[in-house]
Amino acid sequence: MRLLVRNIKELVQVEEQPRERVLGTEMANVATVKDAYLMVEEGRIVAFGPMATLAEERADSVVDASGRLVMPCFCDSHTHLVYAGSREHEYCDKIRGLSYEEIAQRGGGILNSARRLQAASEEELYEGAMQRLEQMIRLGSGAVELKSGYGLTVEAEMKMLRVIRRMKETSPLALKATLLGAHGVPLEYRGRQGEFVDLVVREMIPQAAAEGLADYVDVFCDRGFFTPEEADRILEAGAKYGLRGKIHANELACSGGVQVAVRWNALSCDHLEHMGEAEIAALNGSGTMPTVLPGAAFFLGMPYAPARQMIDSGLGVAMASDCNPGSSPSGNMQLILSMACINYRLLPEEAINAVTLNSAYAMGVSHEVGSIAVGKQANFFITRPVPSLEYMPYSFGENKVEQVFIQGRRM
Ligand code: NIG
Ligand code: FE
Repeated sequence: MRLLVRNIKELVQVEEQPRERVLGTEMANVATVKDAYLMVEEGRIVAFGPMATLAEERADSVVDASGRLVMPCFCDSHTHLVYAGSREHEYCDKIRGLSYEEIAQRGGGILNSARRLQAASEEELYEGAMQRLEQMIRLGSGAVELKSGYGLTVEAEMKMLRVIRRMKETSPLALKATLLGAHGVPLEYRGRQGEFVDLVVREMIPQAAAEGLADYVDVFCDRGFFTPEEADRILEAGAKYGLRGKIHANELACSGGVQVAVRWNALSCDHLEHMGEAEIAALNGSGTMPTVLPGAAFFLGMPYAPARQMIDSGLGVAMASDCNPGSSPSGNMQLILSMACINYRLLPEEAINAVTLNSAYAMGVSHEVGSIAVGKQANFFITRPVPSLEYMPYSFGENKVEQVFIQGRRM
């Protein structure tokens, strides 16, 4: 099966020599080809270049992209897509003045989602998460990481991971599963949090690894949640079972989580609303991708992570949706692209790198997706007619994506 996309106004984020991620000043460069073609065979990119160099026009399917951009699909490297029920009542409590931490302290928040998830069937969870995933595909996402973390018992965490496994089996997207057993402390473990960490380390991680249910392990290391010492134990146990770490850190305070992530060579450390010089210095030279979640900062009215400062200090930055019912009920990566520019002062090119190649790195798939390169999966979208690349973040709040192709197939 051969697919040709021709007359592309501008083919965006092309790479002759694929890189695993982009750092610092490199983030301001996005290579493009104007008046381009893209050739796909058996779900992979086999060629691209200027229309003038297109030698062989024979294909099973030809799409004309006149006036339109073609971009690699967004890689959403941080989501909590599997959940039962929304939390708009807490949203109203927040409007009335309660903080995220106060709601959590009262047994709401993550514990509220956990109660509902424990009661939901695998089938219901699968249907709900697939609907959200389909909506995200229509908005241009082609690779998604999904976390457990609303189970908080061994049984319910494994249930969540089985739902993600079924999604991997049925969806053509690049999906990754992360065990986030230590997302909140269940009420029955209050006052003996260490024993809950024991459960994560001794039962959840070994079982998820033995059944091949998780690619990565994560922990919410923050004020009022898990300590750096506890996070350290969890990433250590993950490493022992071959699960690389990702970490929720520094959302509510300078938690020490960034340093734990770097110590264990975690793939990413995410949120980072509270960052000091020491955190930025720790990340520099490491393999850990700082990942900013604009949706959560926006929705919870938190300070914005210093992404500009991080890039200026030489770091690469990724951005993801954090789609979840409590702190970011949206998986719209086009909105994240706009917020990257508006709220974090990234240039459009830096923002594109943050939501494609760098976020692909943050979920361990940058060798497969995240750019237009020969040999990579043909996960890309065609926009509706737009005047320029910069228009993509500029025109916020509307869907500019017209057609999405995953592994070369129109979705
Ligand atoms: O990434 N910060 C921790 N976890 C999620 C929120 C989970 C929830 O409130 O349901 C996040 O923002
Ligand atoms: Fe999260």
